[in-house]
Amino acid sequence: MPTHFKLNTGAEIPAIGFGTWQDEQAQEDAVAEALKAGYRHIDTARVYLTEKAVGKAIKKSGIPRHELFVTTKLWNHQHHPDDVPTALQQSLDDLDMQYVDLYLIHWPVAWKRGTDMFPKKDGKMILEDIDFVDTYKAMEKLLDTGKVKAIGVSNFSKAEMEHLLEEVSVTPAVHQMECHPWLQQRSFVAWHRSKCIHITHYSPLGNQNQLYQSKGTVGKLIEEPVLADIGKQYDKSAPQVTLAWGITQGHSVLPKSKTPARIQSNFKGDFRLGPRDMEKIQQLDRKLRFNDSSEDFGKEFFTDLDGKWMRGAHAQKVSSLNASWLYLGPSSLQSLKGDL
Ligand SMILES: NC(=O)c1ccc[n+]([C@@H]2O[C@H](COP(=O)([O-])OP(=O)(O)OC[C@H]3O[C@@H](n4cnc5c(N)ncnc54)[C@H](OP(=O)(O)O)[C@@H]3O)[C@@H](O)[C@H]2O)c1
Repeated sequence: MPTHFKLNTGAEIPAIGFGTWQDEQAQEDAVAEALKAGYRHIDTARVYLTEKAVGKAIKKSGIPRHELFVTTKLWNHQHHPDDVPTALQQSLDDLDMQYVDLYLIHWPVAWKRGTDMFPKKDGKMILEDIDFVDTYKAMEKLLDTGKVKAIGVSNFSKAEMEHLLEEVSVTPAVHQMECHPWLQQRSFVAWHRSKCIHITHYSPLGNQNQLYQSKGTVGKLIEEPVLADIGKQYDKSAPQVTLAWGITQGHSVLPKSKTPARIQSNFKGDFRLGPRDMEKIQQLDRKLRFNDSSEDFGKEFFTDLDGKWMRGAHAQKVSSLNASWLYLGPSSLQSLKGDL
């Protein structure tokens, strides 16, 4: 029986979800394969352009809607409260569904309203002065329509979470964030637990995503020998251990793959690791964040979180370290971080 976790709404979220960012053309087949393998939790977003493919694969599978958990996300150009209901309806139309189980603010930044998903001037994003609190309050109203069963956020800093909680009446059910053994975010995780906010790990396999390779030569998280060693006791692979590390903490995880054999094997990452193995993996934390869009998105994200490298005044110093900083172990990284 696949693991499920209870959200603060009372609903259950399957521990293993299926990511659908990138490879749009392959997604209908990939989601069909995932459903066949047993996944019942699918993650998409307006900006991934994969909602139609997800909807088609689900329809073809014949699996009743109530057996599935589907998440989608509001994109940055539709943060104005008046745009939120329209944005949701566009997603529902593409998904060919009456409701989503979870609707998230994708990033805590508002861009110019309109139809352009990436509104730019002189190469820079055009920002809109909209507090994400107002966007979230518009999402709270969607709960009454039955078109969303739960709401939440993604990519928020701690200060942004605290600001949100002070102002809104519905505690987010979920925070979807980058999390893996190289970016464990233990104190932020504990904070979420104290607030009853479920965490979902994106990029759960670390830096497997091709886009993250530009960060320099750091090796691959899933090639850490300790993960393979631990896996031997359970007859599991290193990627499966990485997923189980999230699930053992009570978090859901969203591996993405267009490769049938990987889709099937990732689903078998649904198991629990013992405390000694969790302790061994704790030692792997390198505070390495691979997905930080601050430079492209016109706002500095994650400013108070692990794995943040500030730009601006310190950019020269960081750039003089260039790719080599990625080779440094956790203690050197920490001391450098304090220095920057
Ligand atoms: N909220 C956000 O801002 C946000 C940001 C990033 C991601 N996400 C969500 O999280 C999902 C997963 O994140 P992600 O796609 O960045 O990273 P990921 O799932 O950690 O890694 C995906 C990459 O790993 C490869 N892969 C999958 N299983 C593997 C295995 N068992 N062994 C070796 N390689 C394997 C895939 O290749 P193939 O496909 O070629 O098999 C793909 O290149 C996304 O699809 C999306 O749904 C959300």
